[in-house]
Amino acid sequence: MFSHGKYLLVLLLLLLLFAAYNYTLYTTQSDYGTIQLSEKALQGEKHWRENNCNACHQLYGLGGYLGPDLTNVYSFRKADEQYLKSMFNSGVKAMPRFDFNETEKEELLQFLMEVDQTGTYPNTEATIKPDGWVKVQYKKETYEH
Ligand code: HEC
Repeated sequence: MFSHGKYLLVLLLLLLLFAAYNYTLYTTQSDYGTIQLSEKALQGEKHWRENNCNACHQLYGLGGYLGPDLTNVYSFRKADEQYLKSMFNSGVKAMPRFDFNETEKEELLQFLMEVDQTGTYPNTEATIKPDGWVKVQYKKETYEH
């Protein structure tokens, strides 16, 4: 039978292991990189929020489901900026007709373009590494605008 002292020792050991595990987990650099939106894209994000685009659309699968996921709409539509800009104000099907001016449309477009560069959704290129972590393919190309 273990004495109280030994129980305490085991408990202490477990606590130490827990602390070490958490330390490594939360201090290890991830390879996500830093995502920074440009000033223009931030303006676009503001329009995105203020007009509740997310109520119907998703980014990375999160949002409402009335409209399509727009994470990669920029490359999916082959960078057809004319098409995308016209979608903002056209009011097709269940999408309300917005009244963005040219600057606002450019900013929204910039937002969608930069979001597109952050990755691919859904990402079918993910592989599981031997240590259990998932390796995701990130986009490297940057678009000129
Ligand atoms: C009430 C729901 C709703 C809201 C709010 C909404 N949308 Fe949509 N949106 C839709 C639907 C539904 C479609 C699909 C229309 C179709 O099938 O032709 C769509 C399509 C689009 C498309 C075209 C996607 C493609 O691949 O052709 C873009 C771009 C888009 N929306 C952007 C926006 C932006 C930006 C906002 C916010 C300013 C917004 N939407 C707000 C419902 C919405």
